[in-house]
Amino acid sequence: MTVATEKRLGETEVARRSLPVCVLDDEAELVEITAMKLGRLGFPAMGTTNPEDALAQVRVGACRVALVDMKMPGMDGFTFLEKSLQLDPNIAVILITGFYSLDSAIEAIRRGAQDFLCKPLDEERLVKALDELAEVSTRRSQVRALDDQLLTNFEFEGIVGRSPAMLEMLDMARKISRHYTNVLISGPTGSGKELVARAVHQMSPVAQQKFAVCNCSALVDTLLESQLFGHIRGSFTGATDTRAGLFEFANGGSVFLDEIGETSPQMQAKLLRVIQNREIQRVGSPEVKKVDVRVIAATNRNLRSEVLAGRFREDLFYRLSSLEIRVPGLVDRTEDIPILVRYFLKKYGEAYGKTFQGLTRRAQIVLLQHDWPGNVRELENVISSAAITATNEFMDVDDLPVIVRKPGRHSHSATDENWRPLPLDEVRRTHIKRVLEMCGGNRVRASQILGIGRTSLYRFLKSEPETPNGKSVA
Ligand SMILES: Nc1ncnc2c1ncn2[C@@H]1O[C@H](COP(=O)(O)OP(=O)(O)OP(=O)(O)O)[C@@H](O)[C@H]1O
Ligand SMILES: [Mg+2]
Repeated sequence: MTVATEKRLGETEVARRSLPVCVLDDEAELVEITAMKLGRLGFPAMGTTNPEDALAQVRVGACRVALVDMKMPGMDGFTFLEKSLQLDPNIAVILITGFYSLDSAIEAIRRGAQDFLCKPLDEERLVKALDELAEVSTRRSQVRALDDQLLTNFEFEGIVGRSPAMLEMLDMARKISRHYTNVLISGPTGSGKELVARAVHQMSPVAQQKFAVCNCSALVDTLLESQLFGHIRGSFTGATDTRAGLFEFANGGSVFLDEIGETSPQMQAKLLRVIQNREIQRVGSPEVKKVDVRVIAATNRNLRSEVLAGRFREDLFYRLSSLEIRVPGLVDRTEDIPILVRYFLKKYGEAYGKTFQGLTRRAQIVLLQHDWPGNVRELENVISSAAITATNEFMDVDDLPVIVRKPGRHSHSATDENWRPLPLDEVRRTHIKRVLEMCGGNRVRASQILGIGRTSLYRFLKSEPETPNGKSVA
């Protein structure tokens, strides 16, 4: 025996060990003999005469192959095939019949059987089929190991991506991070701007210093001013003590101004002063203080258009955007979807104590065809909610939310099968609810996408009746 043959034999043995087989036939003796033979050949084999027992094995993932008699008193082979595929879309079912015909073989394959063999079993043919399955399964796990490796290679500061657009963006971020004092990060909602902001700080020479975050759209002007610049005692009702703001707190490090496009003209003027002169004044204090901070601002608005519309100061825009990092939306980098899915499956599998090997092919296709208006956040939400309910190692289409499964949901033609002649009010209500859902209930983000003011959204929500579980739609 040559060394190569020996090695191959060793590989076959290992591969067979990873392919548990369940034998199901109403003849107890046949079950016993077949399971014994397979066991001797190195396959972990079990057998039963009860279809429900076999289905229970499939349900818990105890077998990868089911060897099933076509004609059984309790359940026929096709019914077993259908039920087991529902439980585990990746199970390989080999049907065995005493009445072989080409038509029934074709029908079996069409219904999702792995093979269709006749009785008495041609042992050699069966072992060949099983060995092929074992090889495919080994290759799959090797590919998964490679994918995991790839994940480590393409994860940078928690940012996963391998598309040219992402690699280019990260390269830009890396270059900018060494030198910036002000930088603007733009991109659609949920595309990862905050992650990029953190990475930019991490790569900067001040990585050891503080990184302070301020969501500029979350607070009214007076509170925002006090949060950013601090205040002195008694400067407004409720100011019971003197406090430093984020710029002082993060002195020497970076301040992240999220959603800068939402700030009022008064606030923009104050921000311009810090960005231009690195000077701040606590609310109520005449003292001007110098700070040494790097400013990272983010927006999902097109600030250029905001300037043209007179809603954003031109001078502030130019100060900020001389260095700009544009984070691409997910539709412009669909190559990243599989690796992001892998990343989230691992993350949420660990969180929920489950092991996910991946997605079935048809589920992968569904994800690739969706247009991801909520970008990576939406993808993360889809995988995390599916991770709660999915019971198989491979997530299937049924595990995904309906909104992702529906094709063409953005087409508005009258031929669209989902189209119905509805009153405008109802279309409005459904649309607002969907956008809110997509934004995880974040009203600020939802109002930005909807292109309506926050107050209009609040007014709408107030006018909505409570949902059955007692919560309002947001
Ligand atoms: N490339 C990526 N790799 C891994 N996770 C990502 C990536 N991009 C985004 N995420 C995840 O998606 C979610 C949204 O990201 P993030 O908050 O950075 O988006 P954003 O652009 O700031 O969104 P918004 O405009 O709505 O504020 C986060 O949970 C983040 O961890
Ligand atoms: Mg953000």
